[in-house]
Amino acid sequence: MRTLLVTGGAGFIGSNFVHLAARQNPTDRIIVLDKITYAGNRDNLSGLDVEFVQGDICDGPLVDELVSRSDVVIHFAAESHNDNSLRDPSPFVDTNLVGTFTLLEAIRRHARHLHHISTDEVFGDLPIDSPERFTEETPYRPSSPYSATKAGSDHLVRAWVRSFGVSATISNCSNNYGPYQHIEKFIPRQITNILDGRLPKLYGTGEQVRDWIHVDDHNAAVLQILDHGRMGETYNIGADNDHVNNRQVIELICELMGVEDYEHVADRPGHDQRYAMDSTKLRRELGWAPRYTDTETGMRAGLTQTIAWYREHEQWWRPLKQQVESGYQERGQ
Ligand code: NAD
Ligand code: TYD
Repeated sequence: MRTLLVTGGAGFIGSNFVHLAARQNPTDRIIVLDKITYAGNRDNLSGLDVEFVQGDICDGPLVDELVSRSDVVIHFAAESHNDNSLRDPSPFVDTNLVGTFTLLEAIRRHARHLHHISTDEVFGDLPIDSPERFTEETPYRPSSPYSATKAGSDHLVRAWVRSFGVSATISNCSNNYGPYQHIEKFIPRQITNILDGRLPKLYGTGEQVRDWIHVDDHNAAVLQILDHGRMGETYNIGADNDHVNNRQVIELICELMGVEDYEHVADRPGHDQRYAMDSTKLRRELGWAPRYTDTETGMRAGLTQTIAWYREHEQWWRPLKQQVESGYQERGQ
Protein backbone atom coordinates (compact mmCIF):
# COMPACT_ATOMS: atom_id res chain seq x y z
CA MET A 1 0.00 0.00 0.00
CA ARG A 2 1.43 3.36 -1.10
CA THR A 3 0.41 6.92 -0.37
CA LEU A 4 0.32 9.11 -3.49
CA LEU A 5 0.37 12.88 -3.16
CA VAL A 6 -1.23 14.33 -6.31
CA THR A 7 -0.69 18.07 -6.78
CA GLY A 8 -3.23 19.78 -9.03
CA GLY A 9 -5.49 16.75 -8.61
CA ALA A 10 -8.67 18.85 -8.94
CA GLY A 11 -7.69 20.12 -12.40
CA PHE A 12 -8.28 18.49 -15.78
CA ILE A 13 -5.50 15.91 -16.14
CA GLY A 14 -4.89 15.53 -12.40
CA SER A 15 -8.52 14.65 -11.61
CA ASN A 16 -8.67 12.17 -14.48
CA PHE A 17 -5.45 10.68 -13.05
CA VAL A 18 -6.98 10.31 -9.59
CA HIS A 19 -10.05 8.55 -11.06
CA LEU A 20 -7.82 6.17 -13.07
CA ALA A 21 -5.36 5.50 -10.23
CA ALA A 22 -8.19 4.81 -7.76
CA ARG A 23 -9.69 2.28 -10.21
CA GLN A 24 -6.39 0.66 -11.12
CA ASN A 25 -4.76 0.52 -7.65
CA PRO A 26 -7.61 0.56 -5.11
CA THR A 27 -5.31 -0.15 -2.15
CA ASP A 28 -3.24 3.05 -2.68
CA ARG A 29 -4.06 6.01 -0.47
CA ILE A 30 -4.42 9.29 -2.36
CA ILE A 31 -3.90 12.79 -1.00
CA VAL A 32 -4.78 15.66 -3.37
CA LEU A 33 -3.18 19.08 -2.85
CA ASP A 34 -4.87 21.74 -4.95
CA LYS A 35 -5.21 25.50 -4.57
CA ILE A 36 -8.52 25.51 -6.50
CA THR A 37 -7.61 28.34 -8.83
CA TYR A 38 -10.10 29.27 -11.57
CA ALA A 39 -9.03 25.97 -13.23
CA GLY A 40 -9.63 23.62 -10.29
CA ASN A 41 -12.93 22.14 -9.14
CA ARG A 42 -13.33 20.06 -5.99
CA ASP A 43 -16.37 18.35 -7.57
CA ASN A 44 -14.09 16.73 -10.16
CA LEU A 45 -13.22 14.26 -7.39
CA SER A 46 -16.69 13.66 -6.00
CA GLY A 47 -17.45 10.05 -5.14
CA LEU A 48 -13.76 9.21 -4.67
CA ASP A 49 -12.16 8.18 -1.39
CA VAL A 50 -9.31 10.73 -1.30
CA GLU A 51 -7.95 13.14 1.30
CA PHE A 52 -8.42 16.59 -0.21
CA VAL A 53 -6.25 19.48 0.98
CA GLN A 54 -6.89 22.95 -0.40
CA GLY A 55 -3.56 24.73 -0.48
CA ASP A 56 -0.71 26.17 -2.49
CA ILE A 57 2.35 24.22 -3.66
CA CYS A 58 4.36 27.36 -2.82
CA ASP A 59 3.43 26.94 0.89
CA GLY A 60 6.64 25.35 2.25
CA PRO A 61 5.40 24.10 5.66
CA LEU A 62 2.19 22.62 4.18
CA VAL A 63 4.08 20.92 1.35
CA ASP A 64 6.65 19.58 3.80
CA GLU A 65 3.98 18.01 6.00
CA LEU A 66 2.13 16.41 3.07
CA VAL A 67 5.31 15.10 1.43
CA SER A 68 6.41 13.59 4.77
CA ARG A 69 3.16 11.54 4.80
CA SER A 70 3.53 10.33 1.19
CA ASP A 71 5.65 7.82 -0.68
CA VAL A 72 5.37 9.32 -4.15
CA VAL A 73 4.42 12.76 -5.44
CA ILE A 74 2.78 13.12 -8.86
CA HIS A 75 3.08 16.78 -9.73
CA PHE A 76 0.35 18.09 -12.06
CA ALA A 77 -0.25 21.50 -10.43
CA ALA A 78 0.53 24.34 -12.81
CA GLU A 79 -0.80 27.41 -14.47
CA SER A 80 -1.50 25.77 -17.80
CA HIS A 81 -2.97 28.13 -20.39
CA ASN A 82 -0.77 29.88 -22.97
CA ASP A 83 -3.29 32.65 -23.67
CA ASN A 84 -3.43 33.55 -19.95
CA SER A 85 0.37 33.57 -19.72
CA LEU A 86 0.45 36.22 -22.46
CA ARG A 87 -1.85 38.45 -20.40
CA ASP A 88 -0.21 37.95 -16.97
CA PRO A 89 2.87 35.75 -16.62
CA SER A 90 3.34 36.23 -12.87
CA PRO A 91 1.24 33.29 -11.53
CA PHE A 92 3.09 31.08 -14.03
CA VAL A 93 6.42 32.02 -12.47
CA ASP A 94 5.05 31.48 -8.95
CA THR A 95 3.34 28.14 -9.43
CA ASN A 96 5.38 26.52 -12.19
CA LEU A 97 8.82 27.58 -10.94
CA VAL A 98 8.61 28.48 -7.23
CA GLY A 99 5.98 25.75 -6.60
CA THR A 100 8.12 23.06 -8.23
CA PHE A 101 11.16 24.28 -6.29
CA THR A 102 9.18 24.09 -3.03
CA LEU A 103 8.13 20.51 -3.76
CA LEU A 104 11.65 19.48 -4.75
CA GLU A 105 13.06 20.76 -1.48
CA ALA A 106 10.49 18.79 0.54
CA ILE A 107 11.17 15.68 -1.56
CA ARG A 108 14.90 16.10 -0.96
CA ARG A 109 14.40 16.46 2.81
CA HIS A 110 12.18 13.39 3.10
CA ALA A 111 13.84 11.26 0.38
CA ARG A 112 10.59 10.63 -1.50
CA HIS A 113 10.01 10.02 -5.24
CA LEU A 114 8.70 12.68 -7.63
CA HIS A 115 7.03 12.20 -10.98
CA HIS A 116 6.96 15.57 -12.72
CA ILE A 117 4.29 16.19 -15.38
CA SER A 118 5.50 18.36 -18.24
CA THR A 119 4.62 19.26 -21.78
CA ASP A 120 5.89 19.02 -25.35
CA GLU A 121 5.80 22.83 -25.47
CA VAL A 122 9.20 23.02 -23.73
CA PHE A 123 10.74 22.04 -27.12
CA GLY A 124 9.31 25.09 -28.89
CA ASP A 125 7.72 24.39 -32.26
CA LEU A 126 8.52 22.82 -35.63
CA PRO A 127 7.74 24.27 -39.08
CA ILE A 128 4.21 23.34 -40.23
CA ASP A 129 5.36 20.95 -42.96
CA SER A 130 8.25 19.41 -41.02
CA PRO A 131 8.31 15.59 -40.79
CA GLU A 132 10.39 15.89 -37.59
CA ARG A 133 9.22 14.92 -34.11
CA PHE A 134 10.51 15.92 -30.68
CA THR A 135 12.57 13.27 -28.89
CA GLU A 136 13.81 13.27 -25.30
CA GLU A 137 17.10 14.68 -26.67
CA THR A 138 15.58 17.66 -28.52
CA PRO A 139 17.00 20.92 -27.08
CA TYR A 140 14.58 23.12 -25.14
CA ARG A 141 13.37 26.23 -27.02
CA PRO A 142 10.16 27.40 -25.27
CA SER A 143 8.25 30.32 -26.79
CA SER A 144 5.64 31.56 -24.27
CA PRO A 145 5.73 32.42 -20.57
CA TYR A 146 3.79 29.16 -20.01
CA SER A 147 6.24 26.94 -21.86
CA ALA A 148 9.28 28.84 -20.52
CA THR A 149 8.18 28.27 -16.90
CA LYS A 150 7.42 24.59 -17.61
CA ALA A 151 10.89 24.27 -19.22
CA GLY A 152 12.40 25.90 -16.12
CA SER A 153 10.57 23.44 -13.87
CA ASP A 154 11.96 20.49 -15.86
CA HIS A 155 15.47 21.92 -15.48
CA LEU A 156 14.97 22.27 -11.72
CA VAL A 157 13.93 18.60 -11.46
CA ARG A 158 16.99 17.45 -13.45
CA ALA A 159 19.30 19.65 -11.40
CA TRP A 160 17.90 18.21 -8.13
CA VAL A 161 18.43 14.68 -9.50
CA ARG A 162 22.01 15.38 -10.50
CA SER A 163 23.12 17.69 -7.69
CA PHE A 164 21.25 16.21 -4.73
CA GLY A 165 20.49 12.64 -5.83
CA VAL A 166 16.73 13.23 -5.69
CA SER A 167 14.66 10.34 -7.10
CA ALA A 168 12.54 11.68 -9.95
CA THR A 169 11.12 10.93 -13.38
CA ILE A 170 9.68 13.39 -15.91
CA SER A 171 7.12 12.97 -18.68
CA ASN A 172 6.52 15.45 -21.50
CA CYS A 173 3.13 14.98 -23.11
CA SER A 174 1.37 16.50 -26.10
CA ASN A 175 -2.02 18.34 -26.04
CA ASN A 176 -4.68 16.44 -24.07
CA TYR A 177 -8.44 16.34 -24.52
CA GLY A 178 -11.22 14.58 -22.59
CA PRO A 179 -13.72 15.08 -19.74
CA TYR A 180 -13.17 17.81 -17.10
CA GLN A 181 -11.00 20.01 -19.36
CA HIS A 182 -11.49 23.71 -18.67
CA ILE A 183 -13.58 25.31 -21.42
CA GLU A 184 -10.93 27.96 -22.09
CA LYS A 185 -9.00 25.26 -24.00
CA PHE A 186 -9.45 24.61 -27.73
CA ILE A 187 -11.54 21.41 -27.89
CA PRO A 188 -13.98 21.97 -24.97
CA ARG A 189 -14.35 25.61 -26.00
CA GLN A 190 -15.63 24.56 -29.43
CA ILE A 191 -17.87 21.78 -28.06
CA THR A 192 -19.50 24.15 -25.55
CA ASN A 193 -19.74 26.92 -28.18
CA ILE A 194 -21.83 24.58 -30.31
CA LEU A 195 -23.91 23.39 -27.33
CA ASP A 196 -24.48 27.06 -26.43
CA GLY A 197 -25.55 28.07 -29.97
CA ARG A 198 -22.31 30.00 -30.64
CA LEU A 199 -19.96 29.59 -33.59
CA PRO A 200 -16.74 27.61 -32.99
CA LYS A 201 -13.68 29.91 -33.09
CA LEU A 202 -10.55 29.09 -35.07
CA TYR A 203 -7.40 31.18 -34.49
CA GLY A 204 -6.05 32.52 -37.79
CA THR A 205 -6.09 30.03 -40.65
CA GLY A 206 -5.98 26.99 -38.36
CA GLU A 207 -2.92 25.43 -40.02
CA GLN A 208 -1.24 24.74 -36.66
CA VAL A 209 -0.71 21.14 -35.63
CA ARG A 210 -1.09 19.67 -32.13
CA ASP A 211 -0.36 15.98 -31.47
CA TRP A 212 -3.72 15.35 -29.71
CA ILE A 213 -3.91 12.61 -27.07
CA HIS A 214 -6.84 11.44 -24.94
CA VAL A 215 -6.27 12.20 -21.25
CA ASP A 216 -6.70 8.52 -20.26
CA ASP A 217 -3.85 7.53 -22.58
CA HIS A 218 -1.64 10.20 -20.97
CA ASN A 219 -2.49 9.03 -17.47
CA ALA A 220 -2.05 5.34 -18.32
CA ALA A 221 1.48 6.26 -19.41
CA VAL A 222 2.08 8.12 -16.13
CA LEU A 223 1.01 5.04 -14.14
CA GLN A 224 3.38 2.86 -16.21
CA ILE A 225 6.26 5.26 -15.57
CA LEU A 226 5.47 5.33 -11.83
CA ASP A 227 5.62 1.54 -11.65
CA HIS A 228 8.36 0.75 -14.16
CA GLY A 229 10.16 3.97 -15.21
CA ARG A 230 13.91 4.25 -14.70
CA MET A 231 15.01 6.78 -12.08
CA GLY A 232 16.17 10.12 -13.46
CA GLU A 233 14.72 9.40 -16.93
CA THR A 234 12.43 11.47 -19.10
CA TYR A 235 9.70 9.93 -21.29
CA ASN A 236 7.89 11.61 -24.18
CA ILE A 237 4.17 10.79 -24.48
CA GLY A 238 2.23 11.20 -27.74
CA ALA A 239 -0.43 9.37 -29.76
CA ASP A 240 0.77 9.95 -33.35
CA ASN A 241 -1.89 12.52 -34.25
CA ASP A 242 0.70 14.97 -35.57
CA HIS A 243 -0.83 15.15 -39.04
CA VAL A 244 -4.13 16.87 -38.07
CA ASN A 245 -4.30 20.63 -37.94
CA ASN A 246 -6.65 22.85 -35.89
CA ARG A 247 -8.93 23.42 -38.89
CA GLN A 248 -9.37 19.68 -39.37
CA VAL A 249 -10.07 19.20 -35.64
CA ILE A 250 -12.71 21.95 -35.63
CA GLU A 251 -14.29 20.46 -38.77
CA LEU A 252 -14.35 17.01 -37.16
CA ILE A 253 -16.05 18.43 -34.04
CA CYS A 254 -18.59 20.23 -36.28
CA GLU A 255 -19.26 17.01 -38.20
CA LEU A 256 -19.69 14.95 -35.02
CA MET A 257 -22.08 17.57 -33.61
CA GLY A 258 -24.04 18.06 -36.84
CA VAL A 259 -23.13 21.70 -37.57
CA GLU A 260 -21.32 23.26 -40.51
CA ASP A 261 -20.18 26.78 -39.68
CA TYR A 262 -17.25 28.08 -37.68
CA GLU A 263 -15.50 31.43 -37.69
CA HIS A 264 -11.91 32.61 -38.00
CA VAL A 265 -10.83 34.93 -35.17
CA ALA A 266 -7.65 36.85 -34.30
CA ASP A 267 -4.57 34.66 -34.15
CA ARG A 268 -2.51 34.16 -30.96
CA PRO A 269 0.68 36.29 -30.85
CA GLY A 270 3.78 34.10 -31.30
CA HIS A 271 1.51 31.09 -32.07
CA ASP A 272 3.54 27.84 -32.03
CA GLN A 273 3.15 26.14 -35.39
CA ARG A 274 3.59 22.43 -34.99
CA TYR A 275 4.14 20.02 -32.08
CA ALA A 276 4.91 16.35 -32.73
CA MET A 277 6.08 13.78 -30.21
CA ASP A 278 8.25 10.73 -30.71
CA SER A 279 7.20 8.36 -27.91
CA THR A 280 9.32 5.39 -29.06
CA LYS A 281 11.27 5.23 -25.78
CA LEU A 282 8.12 4.87 -23.66
CA ARG A 283 6.61 2.31 -26.04
CA ARG A 284 9.80 0.20 -26.27
CA GLU A 285 10.93 0.36 -22.63
CA LEU A 286 7.59 0.22 -20.85
CA GLY A 287 5.29 -1.36 -23.44
CA TRP A 288 2.84 1.57 -23.33
CA ALA A 289 0.53 2.17 -26.30
CA PRO A 290 -2.34 4.67 -26.64
CA ARG A 291 -5.88 3.32 -26.96
CA TYR A 292 -7.15 6.36 -28.87
CA THR A 293 -4.60 6.49 -31.66
CA ASP A 294 -4.82 7.44 -35.37
CA THR A 295 -7.13 10.28 -36.25
CA GLU A 296 -9.73 8.43 -38.27
CA THR A 297 -10.77 5.92 -35.62
CA GLY A 298 -9.07 6.86 -32.34
CA MET A 299 -9.60 10.59 -32.30
CA ARG A 300 -13.14 10.23 -33.64
CA ALA A 301 -13.92 7.83 -30.76
CA GLY A 302 -12.19 10.04 -28.19
CA LEU A 303 -13.97 13.18 -29.39
CA THR A 304 -17.33 11.40 -29.51
CA GLN A 305 -16.88 10.36 -25.86
CA THR A 306 -15.73 13.87 -24.90
CA ILE A 307 -18.67 15.56 -26.68
CA ALA A 308 -21.08 13.22 -24.87
CA TRP A 309 -19.47 14.14 -21.53
CA TYR A 310 -19.93 17.91 -22.11
CA ARG A 311 -23.52 17.30 -23.28
CA GLU A 312 -24.26 15.38 -20.08
CA HIS A 313 -22.43 17.79 -17.74
CA GLU A 314 -23.83 21.17 -18.67
CA GLN A 315 -24.08 22.06 -14.96
CA TRP A 316 -20.28 21.64 -14.77
CA TRP A 317 -19.36 24.07 -17.59
CA ARG A 318 -22.37 26.42 -17.77
CA PRO A 319 -21.28 28.70 -14.85
CA LEU A 320 -17.92 29.33 -16.59
CA LYS A 321 -19.06 29.96 -20.14
CA GLN A 322 -20.06 33.61 -20.21
CA GLN A 323 -16.95 34.79 -18.40
CA VAL A 324 -14.58 32.74 -20.58
CA GLU A 325 -16.18 34.03 -23.78
CA SER A 326 -16.16 37.65 -22.57
CA GLY A 327 -12.42 37.38 -21.92
CA TYR A 328 -11.81 36.03 -25.41
CA GLN A 329 -14.12 38.62 -26.97
CA GLU A 330 -12.06 41.47 -25.45
CA ARG A 331 -9.07 40.13 -27.43
CA GLY A 332 -11.01 39.64 -30.66
CA GLN A 333 -10.97 35.87 -30.21
P1 NAD B 1 -5.41 22.63 -15.30
O1 NAD B 1 -5.16 24.11 -15.45
O2 NAD B 1 -6.70 22.05 -15.77
O3 NAD B 1 -5.26 22.21 -13.77
C1 NAD B 1 -4.24 22.71 -12.95
C2 NAD B 1 -4.63 22.42 -11.50
O4 NAD B 1 -3.56 22.90 -10.66
C3 NAD B 1 -5.91 23.14 -11.04
O5 NAD B 1 -6.73 22.25 -10.31
C4 NAD B 1 -5.39 24.26 -10.16
O6 NAD B 1 -6.31 24.62 -9.14
C5 NAD B 1 -4.13 23.64 -9.59
N1 NAD B 1 -3.14 24.66 -9.18
C6 NAD B 1 -2.75 25.75 -9.90
N2 NAD B 1 -1.84 26.45 -9.18
C7 NAD B 1 -1.68 25.79 -8.01
C8 NAD B 1 -0.87 26.02 -6.87
N3 NAD B 1 -0.06 27.08 -6.78
N4 NAD B 1 -0.93 25.14 -5.85
C9 NAD B 1 -1.75 24.05 -5.91
N5 NAD B 1 -2.55 23.80 -6.97
C10 NAD B 1 -2.50 24.65 -8.01
O7 NAD B 1 -4.17 21.95 -16.02
P2 NAD B 1 -4.07 20.57 -16.80
O8 NAD B 1 -4.40 20.81 -18.21
O9 NAD B 1 -4.77 19.52 -16.04
O10 NAD B 1 -2.51 20.33 -16.72
C11 NAD B 1 -1.94 19.58 -15.66
C12 NAD B 1 -0.44 19.42 -15.90
O11 NAD B 1 -0.22 18.77 -17.14
C13 NAD B 1 0.30 20.76 -15.99
O12 NAD B 1 1.54 20.60 -15.34
C14 NAD B 1 0.49 20.98 -17.48
O13 NAD B 1 1.65 21.74 -17.73
C15 NAD B 1 0.66 19.54 -17.95
N6 NAD B 1 0.29 19.28 -19.35
C16 NAD B 1 -0.94 19.68 -19.82
C17 NAD B 1 -1.30 19.37 -21.13
C18 NAD B 1 -2.67 19.75 -21.68
O14 NAD B 1 -2.93 19.53 -22.86
N7 NAD B 1 -3.58 20.27 -20.87
C19 NAD B 1 -0.40 18.68 -21.96
C20 NAD B 1 0.83 18.28 -21.45
C21 NAD B 1 1.16 18.58 -20.13
P1 TYD C 1 -4.92 25.31 -26.54
O1 TYD C 1 -6.02 24.36 -26.19
O2 TYD C 1 -4.95 26.66 -25.91
O3 TYD C 1 -3.56 24.54 -26.23
P2 TYD C 1 -2.00 24.96 -26.56
O4 TYD C 1 -1.90 26.42 -26.64
O5 TYD C 1 -1.32 24.41 -25.35
O6 TYD C 1 -1.63 24.23 -27.80
O7 TYD C 1 -4.90 25.53 -28.11
C1 TYD C 1 -4.71 24.44 -29.01
C2 TYD C 1 -4.61 25.01 -30.40
O8 TYD C 1 -5.89 25.55 -30.78
C3 TYD C 1 -3.64 26.17 -30.52
O9 TYD C 1 -2.98 26.06 -31.78
C4 TYD C 1 -4.50 27.41 -30.48
C5 TYD C 1 -5.78 26.94 -31.12
N1 TYD C 1 -7.04 27.56 -30.62
C6 TYD C 1 -8.02 27.97 -31.55
O10 TYD C 1 -7.86 27.88 -32.77
N2 TYD C 1 -9.20 28.46 -31.07
C7 TYD C 1 -9.45 28.59 -29.73
O11 TYD C 1 -10.55 29.04 -29.34
C8 TYD C 1 -8.43 28.18 -28.79
C9 TYD C 1 -8.66 28.30 -27.31
C10 TYD C 1 -7.23 27.65 -29.29
